[in-house]
Amino acid sequence: MHKIIRLKWPAWAILFIVVIGSIITFTYWTKHSQAVTEVQQKALSNYPGLHLETLTKETDTYTLAISKPIAESEAINKPIETWINQQEKKFLTNVEENNQLLDKDRRAHLNIHVETEKLADSLYSLVFTAYQITGGANGQETIKTFNVDVKGNKMLDLKDILKGKDEAYDTIRTSVREQIDQNEDLKPYVFQDAMEDALRNPVNWKWSLNEKALHLYFDEYEIAAGAAGTIEINIPIAQLRAYLQDDVAEQLQVTVVEPNTEGQSSVKEKALDPNGKYIALTFDDGPHPKVTPRVLQTLHDYQAKATFYMLGSQVEYYPSIVRDVFAQGHEVGNHTEKHTDLTQLDQAMIEQEIKETKQKIYQASGYYPTSIRPPYGAYNESVKQVTNKLDTPMVLWSVDSLDWKTRDPDAINQVVSEQVASGSIVLMHDIHPTTADALPQLLSTLKEEGYEFVTVSELLSLQKAKGNGPFYGKS
Ligand code: NI
Repeated sequence: MHKIIRLKWPAWAILFIVVIGSIITFTYWTKHSQAVTEVQQKALSNYPGLHLETLTKETDTYTLAISKPIAESEAINKPIETWINQQEKKFLTNVEENNQLLDKDRRAHLNIHVETEKLADSLYSLVFTAYQITGGANGQETIKTFNVDVKGNKMLDLKDILKGKDEAYDTIRTSVREQIDQNEDLKPYVFQDAMEDALRNPVNWKWSLNEKALHLYFDEYEIAAGAAGTIEINIPIAQLRAYLQDDVAEQLQVTVVEPNTEGQSSVKEKALDPNGKYIALTFDDGPHPKVTPRVLQTLHDYQAKATFYMLGSQVEYYPSIVRDVFAQGHEVGNHTEKHTDLTQLDQAMIEQEIKETKQKIYQASGYYPTSIRPPYGAYNESVKQVTNKLDTPMVLWSVDSLDWKTRDPDAINQVVSEQVASGSIVLMHDIHPTTADALPQLLSTLKEEGYEFVTVSELLSLQKAKGNGPFYGKS
């Protein structure tokens, strides 16, 4: 008895050292790998110091898509988030009020989109447009601007940009009045009193700046009748140069992504065996700085090819990920600029949504997207006419992984492996970490069942799918 107890103590001591040692190692390793991911993320963003996340949601009565830039400082994130939450709340109240007018075929829609302008090294202008449509024929648009200093961790006022403030403000006011006066299309709609009210207090101005101009924005109905819509007046920088703070004047520069002109055609297609078992995996709503690289790694590990339906807004932020996707032999498709429900737009706007993204993908990579996937899978005759006109096939899906809903790797694996068949197009999203978590198991299971993973274009060629679709794949 005495002997046994004496032996136990050294054993406990060793166990103690091992446990503490592992905890220290694990803590160090986790922290270290987190730091690496953060550094990578910073390097990936086209706008250092800012990340962009696009959240989308869909219910029986509404769809919404919100793009939100995120800085490291709460002093920047908080006001932006507050404004976004207000917009969302307003929208949900409208949905509630119009509930009896809304159903699966006539859903309300909220879209919050941001244009990012780099105005100096760590200074950005963020111009938000919130567009909502709930039942009525006309949507409502609201503009909001935030000018941020991501190094100084603060919001910028006009007075941080302009010296000789009163004179500078008067110059801006005069320019706005003159421009409206000379604009025959706009002038008849403008209410002079409302315009003077809006111009009075610079603190309330909605503005952004780039190397060409200071932009002032006015909401629908703010200074003019509704028919004029939202109004943007550009005051050429030449008129303001004398008033710019020295450091701003010096730094005012815009980075241009040089298009890669090496290859203009799309990814090389592989000819498939008519008797083979093939699946086209598709990943929507990215590129995402954390999830997309993980998805790419897993696809590489399993020698799988896939198709990424990218949002123009995300592409603008993460052009190097777009290049990686192409470099690894995957296909890129067009998922529109703002993830808007296209059935709510007129044809000119649908075309713009598609073309803007096409251009951004090309600018980032030197390649054009090959097909279009409408957000929420929503299309009508009008959308079809536009995609036909652009001669780009519309691609939907036959298997919905529901990854956006379950956010659970086991559930994703179960849904997909139960429903998939040769010729299927599978819908997933490379913005949820749980989707990246699910992928290794999913690929391994399906590979064991004899499936190969190909791009949408390869699959459609095999299926001899002609014309512009829409194509769904097999189930
Ligand atoms: Ni989507």
